[in-house]
Amino acid sequence: MATIYKQDSRTFSEYLLIPNLTTKDCVPENVDLRTPIVRYKKGEESVLSLNIPMTSAIMQAVSDSGLAIALAREGGLSFIFGSQPIASQAEMVRTVKKFKAGLVTSDTNLKPDATLKDILEIKKRTGHSTVAITADGTSHGRLLGVVTSRDYRVSRMNGDEIVADFMTPFDQLVYGREGITLSEANDIIWDHKLNQLPIVNSKNELVGMVFRKDYDAHKENPMELLDHHKRLLVGAGINTRDYVERVPALIDAEVDILCIDSSDGFSEWQYETLQYVKTHYPDIPIGGGNVVDREGFRYLAEAGADFIKVGIGGGSICITREQKGIGCGQATAVQIVAEARDEYFAETGIYIPICSDGGIVYDYHMSLALAMGADFLMLGRYFARFDESPTKQQFVNGMYVKEYWGEGSNRARNWQRYGHRKDEKGGLAFEEGVDSYVPYAGSLKSNLDITLAKLKATMCACGSLTIKDFQQNSRLIRVSSTSIVEGGAHDVITKESERRP
Ligand code: IMP
Repeated sequence: MATIYKQDSRTFSEYLLIPNLTTKDCVPENVDLRTPIVRYKKGEESVLSLNIPMTSAIMQAVSDSGLAIALAREGGLSFIFGSQPIASQAEMVRTVKKFKAGLVTSDTNLKPDATLKDILEIKKRTGHSTVAITADGTSHGRLLGVVTSRDYRVSRMNGDEIVADFMTPFDQLVYGREGITLSEANDIIWDHKLNQLPIVNSKNELVGMVFRKDYDAHKENPMELLDHHKRLLVGAGINTRDYVERVPALIDAEVDILCIDSSDGFSEWQYETLQYVKTHYPDIPIGGGNVVDREGFRYLAEAGADFIKVGIGGGSICITREQKGIGCGQATAVQIVAEARDEYFAETGIYIPICSDGGIVYDYHMSLALAMGADFLMLGRYFARFDESPTKQQFVNGMYVKEYWGEGSNRARNWQRYGHRKDEKGGLAFEEGVDSYVPYAGSLKSNLDITLAKLKATMCACGSLTIKDFQQNSRLIRVSSTSIVEGGAHDVITKESERRP
């Protein structure tokens, strides 16, 4: 007969935290959100840690280089989606590694034969008044000059003037050479009273621009997640089919960490993929998953996974449970796997961090997942709502939204993640995800600041200054369905609806 678990499968909303004693030093400013992401031996430290316990989902609608840069600057990590050609995924990784805070790729460029009308049009469209003039009109072409609003007077011109005639030409420009440090660039900006400094390589090709305001912003990011060369950290998703080609290309692009992206990680394909990476690239950390039980955890732990992702069927866009009847409530899955991880640690002295992936709806769910034992979280819907996610903002039915689709939807066609396909073109035999909208929520930083403030406040209420302490000392209680009603505003007429994620 089949094994029937005695435990129910439960979600985060079915639990609450009971506060512990809050000592006087237990204030948000003292909370340390650093958390390990790679397996380590007892008494040692993980070679890689996150500064905040958040990663972004391995999804087309979430993790491209733009989101990866924004999240790493706040202390988290993105795994660039793998459901794209190897070359374009590697290029996204490269873009993140090349990113230098304060050095931005110029997005307003023209050729020298463009006209003032073109300058005005570009200014209207982008809101930027600095235009780089390059030989081929691209962002990395040979720099011939720069046009700023100080170079022309619209009232005295008719619009047909040629840019080459009124730009500040290269030989009169103040510029920096590639390799210059940000603080040196900033000194030049101040000494010459500039708003921006073009940076060029030895062939005088434009590398990027350092803007005065961006340099200041850089100073506001003390949590940035950086490698030894002070470059942002970035991860990438891989699959169990083309890893022999994909992994070397990603390593060549200097990826920092890999994660096998699979809806069901308890498989021999996953074992082989982990073994391959561990044998050929022992220095590159790699995570496995997803699993929801102790057997799945052990299998991947023994296969060499550096971290293990937990969650099947809980994602906001996910219909796996309806389609295949597999999965487990996310809260229960995290509890089961956390227990397996602790047992494994007690037995072997090796700690393997676990990641709660999917199903986080409210910010407080993040606190619950960590309290239940997750070392860090993976979020899709949460990040899809922000400016930095790869999709366009739209106005639909009276509200601003962004598109968000599952990797198992026919739109993403990520058959490698699901292992079933109907044709060689990559169509799925059936869908496991939906195509949807999420409410647009603004910038990543402004939202993350609020979320982290809530997380720190919860940890303080529970008397914890570190995630490890929070995991070990939290007390959780199950809630009845009637007490859930009590938890929101009730029996009053609210004046305005509260903005929730
Ligand atoms: P969310 O944060 O609740 O939106 O969940 C995101 C997670 O859902 C991802 O990290 C994946 O593990 C999972 N996921 C992504 N696409 C699909 C899909 O199409 N079907 C099922 N699960 C998915």
